[in-house]
Amino acid sequence: YVIGIDLGTSAVKVLLVDKEGEIRNEISKDYPLIQERTGYSEQDPEVWVEKTLEALQELVEPIENASIEGISFAGQMHGLVLLDETNQVLRNAILWNDTRTTKQCETIYEIVGEDQLLKITKNPALEGFTLPKLLWVKENERELFDRAATFLLPKDYLRYRLTGKIHSEFSDAAGTLLLDAAQKEWSRELCEQFGISLDMCPPLIESSACIGTLSDDTARYIGVSPSVQVFAGGADNACGAIGAGILSEGETLCSIGTSGVVLSYEESSDLDFEGKVHYFNHGKENAYYTMGVTLAAGDSLSWFKRVFAKEMTFDQMLEQLDDTPIGSHGLLFTPYIVGERTPHADAAIRASFIGMDSSHTKNDFVRAVIEGITFSLNDSIQIFRDNGKIIDKVVSIGGGAKNKDWLQIQADVFNARVVRLSSEQGPGMGAAMLAAKGCGWFETLEECAEVFISTKEIVDPIEENVERYQKLYPIYQQVYEQTKGLN
Ligand code: XUL
Repeated sequence: YVIGIDLGTSAVKVLLVDKEGEIRNEISKDYPLIQERTGYSEQDPEVWVEKTLEALQELVEPIENASIEGISFAGQMHGLVLLDETNQVLRNAILWNDTRTTKQCETIYEIVGEDQLLKITKNPALEGFTLPKLLWVKENERELFDRAATFLLPKDYLRYRLTGKIHSEFSDAAGTLLLDAAQKEWSRELCEQFGISLDMCPPLIESSACIGTLSDDTARYIGVSPSVQVFAGGADNACGAIGAGILSEGETLCSIGTSGVVLSYEESSDLDFEGKVHYFNHGKENAYYTMGVTLAAGDSLSWFKRVFAKEMTFDQMLEQLDDTPIGSHGLLFTPYIVGERTPHADAAIRASFIGMDSSHTKNDFVRAVIEGITFSLNDSIQIFRDNGKIIDKVVSIGGGAKNKDWLQIQADVFNARVVRLSSEQGPGMGAAMLAAKGCGWFETLEECAEVFISTKEIVDPIEENVERYQKLYPIYQQVYEQTKGLN
């Protein structure tokens, strides 16, 4: 067996996968967000470690004589974990959906200029990325910053705690704004300009690299042999791409977790999207992907449930989606509850329900939330299409792929065929595939994908629905313009 660990934002999920790619067991452990002020989003890295160890123990326990050959990781991107020189954590991790760093993003442009930043990192300065967080700590918690010896991304910290070895890998380093994306090295120029010592940046390796074995303590605690090989792994979106077989040009993925992303494989690091979409190194060697991000996709639904539908499960909420027609009886939702990345790059915008009527039911609201999330993902698809990409097929994973009606909404809003795989566990499966390749089960990720990934369902757009959504989408787009001055 191999194990894929997905260190997500709301939970850690671990998968036990056999040589045929079958998931033999899966365990998920939730943990909370710490949101002390508007725009703040943090987590305690110690909780990640505790929950992961518990989950791993439960994962292998029921399988008799489980021989685990390899483990790898997928993780929420961009989060800042700061360590002192004895590798103790200095503060809570500041996460990807924390938006306190607008000022630091402005400073980044003042110092290096947008063109130079795009040239080196392929990405614009956005609040969620790691460099603005480092600068925020430097400006606001100077004493603590001066004690910082290393920064790590979330799953790289988790790997360190399981093995005792410190590394980062290209797909996650790409989301820091400190990586020279084409040269695949930390940018000396950017580090110098922002007063970040190169020594703070962890050594870089490939996602498929073997970094050694589990530490004896970890192996004993989980109940596996200490000879289990550990592979670097990748950013959750990069692993989501691997786990969904997005390994060649023309392949597009829609992944709905806490955030929602639409991503597209790129062979080259030379394309120019003018920073309108993120451009990151893939978990497959020397490949890339471009991606648009909806900050609050599943998060919008969780918010709605928490505030208005506590008594219902997610499945119950989505059960009657189809009872409300397209357009949710005139109700429109924009999912900007924590600001938005693509296409607006606006941390200050907030969400809205427009068109409320005294006859609306809770079900109308649920459908409006789902449609709003899907419209936001469609904004990313439009950017790709405007740049000449042909998107006629989208592989859908994550929470959004679990519900048949939501899959149909995706097909109708995207006006593309939507493919559902046998497993929605993209990132964890991608991590397991990196371990499977690393263990020598397959020569390439593509060969592994042939065995591990299969289609469960194909959902085609229905012309009449597409037309109705095409009338609603421009109205959805106007809401941003009309509400952005409100804060
Ligand atoms: C991507 C991003 C999110 C997180 C979620 O840029 O910020 O998708 O990776 O885990």
